[in-house]
Amino acid sequence: MSPHRGDASERTNHKPNGNEAMSDTRTLAIIKPDAFGSGKAGKIIDRLESDGFRILAARVVHLSRAGAEAFYDVHRGKPFFASLVDFMTSGPVLAMPLEREDAVTRLREVIGATDPADADTGTVRALYGEGKERNAIHASDSPDNARVEVAFFFAGVDLA
Ligand code: CDP
Ligand code: MG
Repeated sequence: MSPHRGDASERTNHKPNGNEAMSDTRTLAIIKPDAFGSGKAGKIIDRLESDGFRILAARVVHLSRAGAEAFYDVHRGKPFFASLVDFMTSGPVLAMPLEREDAVTRLREVIGATDPADADTGTVRALYGEGKERNAIHASDSPDNARVEVAFFFAGVDLA
């Protein structure tokens, strides 16, 4: 086993007994089509890495309509749903599972409020969001949803 793999498994605190969903060490970030298409991915990744997040994998994906609808199923029926799906399928996104202590909680803090106008100064959405819909980045909102959302993009990928 290489030293790198040994280091990674210590950092991930991986528990093979199925208790990972209880812990808050992994989350999913998606750099949305507005930010990815305008070349902001590097700056956003720099911000995330500066805050201690480790990138476990990365995929550039152009979501299908069915894919975007499935990912945002919790919002189906809301007034903004169709427009959100239009936006999320308008160009490629960059999906990344991220790891650090208190990952879900901390990433939500780092990205800021949904509407960039309400987001704290220095947050990703305040810096790079264009509006309430075109807000640059997605982050999982709970450890259980993080597990589901990571699997949505990275099923079968060994992230350890
Ligand atoms: O992304 P976040 O968890 O902060 O917000 P959400 O309530 O889960 O909404 C998902 C996404 O839908 C947002 O990030 C926006 O892109 C979009 N949205 C919108 O266009 N208009 C709203 N009133 C609420 C959300
Ligand atoms: Mg949400």
